[in-house]
Amino acid sequence: MVKLSVNINKFATLRNSRGGNNPDVIKAAIDAQMFGADGVTIHPRPDERHIRYNDARAIKKIITTEYNIEGNSREQKFIDLVLEVKPHQVTLVPDSDGQLTSDHGWDTLKNKDYLANIIKTFKEAGIRVSLFVDPVIEMIDGAALVDTDRIELYTEAYASRFPSNKEQAIEPYIKAAKRAEELGLGINAGHDLDLDNLRYFASNIPGLMEVSIGHALVCDTLYLGYENAVQLYKRQLGTH
Ligand code: PXP
Repeated sequence: MVKLSVNINKFATLRNSRGGNNPDVIKAAIDAQMFGADGVTIHPRPDERHIRYNDARAIKKIITTEYNIEGNSREQKFIDLVLEVKPHQVTLVPDSDGQLTSDHGWDTLKNKDYLANIIKTFKEAGIRVSLFVDPVIEMIDGAALVDTDRIELYTEAYASRFPSNKEQAIEPYIKAAKRAEELGLGINAGHDLDLDNLRYFASNIPGLMEVSIGHALVCDTLYLGYENAVQLYKRQLGTH
């Protein structure tokens, strides 16, 4: 059963645009769980332009499913927050400063020593680690060498090619997932997954454990309502 983790950052973006507490981000996390999501994801950035560090602490208190915090582990503030909050999973993303959204996976070979160290730190704190990677065999091999628990396949390339040629779009992801399985790595995926491309992805990727979805799900919420949107995404995963 592939798990759906709802990324609630966009609720925070909307809240911050007016300075008050509407929409209430903590309620958005509670409701995601009530509507059937298997987890909640947040992606705090140092400028706190969407999710704030205090949101991360408050969500920890209400989480009944799986809590995933993703972000740039080169930021000491991020490391400290994750070690304090102790989510079930941390997803390490090689963001640069001021980056609009994540747009590439780790070079797991070039950053081997760095990653091995930081992964050890989180694992010793009892936090499962996932590494954001492109679907490139060498990067999957490198991920196994640094002892991560899981990888998160960066799915933007899949999503952008899907409308013109879905078979071609998914091919590198199938190969990457097979390699990850051989190496004993768990497999997550995320970025630009939506109601059109999710089912094909989830039903073709061997060993897929979890997808994290934010932007499209929140856009669909505007038209369909939050509960409907969460349940429609769950249905694409064949679990609802
Ligand atoms: N995974 C990572 C590492 C991300 O940075 C994001 C976006 O915050 C997502 C998944 C979710 O992508 P989207 O918002 O396009 O669903």
